[in-house]
Order: sequence, then C-alpha cells, then structure tokens
Amino acid sequence: QDAPIAVRVEASKPGAKVDRHIFGQFAEHLGTGIYGGVWVGKDSPIPNVRGIRSDVVAALKAIRVPNVRWPGGCFADEYHWRDGIGDPKKRRVTVNANWGGSIEDNAFGTHEFFDFAEQIGAEAYVSVNVGSGTYQEASDWVAYMTADTRNTAGQERAANGRKEPWKVAFLGIGNESWGCGGNMRPETYIDELKRFGRFSRNYNPAQQGENNPLAMRRIAVGPDDKDTRYTEAVMKAWKERDWTWSIEGLSMHSYTVIKFPASYDSVNFGEKEYAEITKATLRMEDLINTHSAIMDKYDPEKKVPLIVDEWGTWYAKLPGSPEGFLQQQNSMRDAIVAALNFNIFARHADRVRGANIAQMVNVLQAMILTDKEKMVLTPTYYIHKMYLPFQDATFVPVAYDAGQYRQGDIELPRVDAVAVRDSAGKLWVSLVNVDPNRPATMRLQIPGVRVKGATGQLLTAPKVNSVNTFDAPDTVSPRPFQGRVGGEGVTVELPAKSVAMLAIDER
Ligand code: AHR
Repeated sequence: QDAPIAVRVEASKPGAKVDRHIFGQFAEHLGTGIYGGVWVGKDSPIPNVRGIRSDVVAALKAIRVPNVRWPGGCFADEYHWRDGIGDPKKRRVTVNANWGGSIEDNAFGTHEFFDFAEQIGAEAYVSVNVGSGTYQEASDWVAYMTADTRNTAGQERAANGRKEPWKVAFLGIGNESWGCGGNMRPETYIDELKRFGRFSRNYNPAQQGENNPLAMRRIAVGPDDKDTRYTEAVMKAWKERDWTWSIEGLSMHSYTVIKFPASYDSVNFGEKEYAEITKATLRMEDLINTHSAIMDKYDPEKKVPLIVDEWGTWYAKLPGSPEGFLQQQNSMRDAIVAALNFNIFARHADRVRGANIAQMVNVLQAMILTDKEKMVLTPTYYIHKMYLPFQDATFVPVAYDAGQYRQGDIELPRVDAVAVRDSAGKLWVSLVNVDPNRPATMRLQIPGVRVKGATGQLLTAPKVNSVNTFDAPDTVSPRPFQGRVGGEGVTVELPAKSVAMLAIDER
C-alpha cells in the first residue's frame, strides 16, 4: 500500500483569474469538421436549425464553449469571405487544397458561422486571410461583420439576412505565417501585422473604446512550438508600437505529437505509447515558461496574453479515413491529456488567457464525433464538462509531492492537482492520477477551511485506450464521486488513470 499523497490547498492565497477563454475551441474547414459535423444543410433529414445540426449544438451548449475559432487554420489563409455570402446556390465552388482536396461549396460562410456561434452561445474568433488575401479584403470583411446599416457594408449584410452587427471578440491576424500561412520571415510578418492590424477596423458601436471589455482583441501569429523567433520579433515590435497599431494577444501553436508525420495510433495502443504521449503533452509547461519569459522581457505587466489557439493530440489517421481529414479516435488517454493541459493553463493564468483545442468535431482531439445521423461524445468532451467551474474562477495555489510513474525509461509525475474558487466563491479541486496501474490516496489539507463535504465527478475507464463508440457511447463517461471528510481535511481514493473534480463544501 502506497503512502497517501498530501496536497496542501492554500485557499487563503488566491492567484490570477482563470480566463474562461482557455476552454475555447477551433473549427476549421477540414474534413468533416464543419461539413457533416456542424453543417448538414437545411434539407437534411438530420434534425437541424437553419442547416446546423441540433444534436451537436445541444452538446456544445452544455459545455459553454467560450469562443470558437474559424475558418482555420491553414484554410484561413486561402479563404475569401465573399465566396461564402449571398445566395447559397450562387456561391463559388472551390477546392480545399490544404485538406484532402475536397470540394468546398462555401455553404457554410460568415452568416452560417455566426448563426452557429450564437446557437451554442460562444463568442467569435475569426482569422483573416493574411497569406493570400489583401489588406482591403480583410478590412472589408471586418466592416461587413461589424458595421451598422448606416454603412454600405452593414446594408449588404442586412440584405443577406442580418441587420444587427455581429461582435468579433478575437481577430486572428493570419495563421502560422511561419508555415502554411505564407512561410514568412518574422520581419515580413511584422510588416503585414502592422498593416492588417491597422486596417481591419471593427465598427460595432458596442465594441468601441479603449477599456471596453467587449473590444475586439487582435491576435498576432506567435511561436511555432519551441521556436522563439516570432515571440521575440512580435513582442519587440509591440513594445516599440505607436498609436497606429497594436495587438491584444500573441498566439502559440503546439500539438501533442511525437513527430510529424503523426504515426501514433489513437486506438489499441499500449502503455508505452500512453506514457510517451503523456510525456509529450507535459512539454506544454516548458513551452509556456520559455515564451512567457520572452514576453516578460517586453511586457512585464503581462498586458499581452498568450493565446494557445491550437493544441491537442495529433495521431495517425484512422485506417480507411480519407487523406487529409485528420480523423482519429479519442480515448481515456486524451482525457488525461486534456486535464493536464487545463491544469497547466490554470497555473499560468496570469499570462495564458486563451486557448483553443484542435478541433471541435471529427478532427484531431475532438469533443464530438459524428457519422451521418450518429453522434458520440468523447472523453475529452467530458473533461470540458467537468472543468466548467474553472471558467473565470480564481486560481488557488496547491503544494504536493507528485511522486513518480515509470514506464520503461520514461518517468512522469504520478499525480497532478489544481484548485480554484469559482465565481460564486466555491472551492474546487481537480486531481489527476496519471499512473495507469496504481490507485492513489490523496489527503487534501485546506488550512482555514472547515470542510463539510467533498463531492463531484470522476472520469476513468477500464483501460487507457478505452474509447466511446456509436455502439458503446458510455465506456468513458463521468460518474458521481466523493472524498471522505475527517481529521484535518479530505481523503480521496483516486483510481488508476482517472481525473476527479471535487467541490469542497464549507461549513
Ligand atoms: O489543426 C490542423 C492544422 O494544424 C491547422 O490548420 C494549422 O494551423 C496547423 O498546422
């Protein structure tokens, strides 16, 4: 029997706000991420509202997606927004050259995207085309989305069915401009950033004013994983900015992958692959430390948030699935990956104020998988659901000795813990047992808090490679869970390979 792991929860030393936007998601025109996964068309026998499937909307509403990033990804830098407005029958039909060469009929365009965002209750994160577009095109698009009907842009939008301007919460100025977005040197990108940033003006009256919490945030392309060149260049430019331009966020992309092209299977893998992927995901901590240190040099007050707007597991494509559709299964391993990343983001809440898991439906580490009329919720979906109390909560420091889980020559922390106080003042503790074989007894000590109870949810599964399928959708799904109150705090018996979220009831 292993000794219990003591976890000291410093409830009286609150930290930074855990921004709800770290639970953002990413929906690209890629494979069946939009077409089939979100959009089925108005005439589909699959229940839908104005073409958007109702089962997917209901599932996403339940996890309160704070923002959805669209239309890409690499797709964004070849997307021409005018192709996706007006009479659907007359829209241009193009080829999605980035992703499998599938036919893009532009049935899902700006109006459909905002309808979807509104149906699920999410804010909009729109990426403009810097790679193959022009300043004018980006500027016209933002005007089309945000100007009122005194403007021609607003009148055109109204004629297409939407009178009220939309709110664009985040505007991505390009995507991966160091790669698929145009392969630009940092200096070239900085020049583009200044001009796109200046001319993509938001006209929505509700979003005006410098300290307006609703103001649109412009997100600059930042680091590709551990490469620091864009971080240095963009932050230096930001420090030297003048009144003509600015940014309100720096993007970072980092996938959990051993190396590209991704070759690890998402199903039927063994413990070795589990340990390797878990180790790979924990690099997120080092990456954030590396880039935050550079950002601190130029921005010690942490005005510019780091937005990890693409993250998640990237495995080999499922056998039989089309090339370029990035279809993979989602297992208990992905649930542990998601929880560990949310805990890392929460620990860096002062700098990481946004993140978008890739991707929402049917692509990479998805929340939802669909096949025609069928839908299944993944283990990653359930982690989002369990972490709802973290949205806009206050970080609470915890101290513990994580111990070790060993697999061959791989060494990992055996457990992980994070605590927050939610906006109603309730204390929540998230506990992760990374070890797939050994349960862990955790003793929570919470000085200054008289604990009455500790109840919540537990996610575990028969195996780390257990998945939910259309035929067996509940293999990995949360169940009620509780700790034992006594002595100085709470004792929690955490099963092997599990994630627990506990609410601490105070007397
Ligand atoms: O999420 C898939 C792709 O990964 C995105 O389109 C791109 O930005 C990244 O390389």
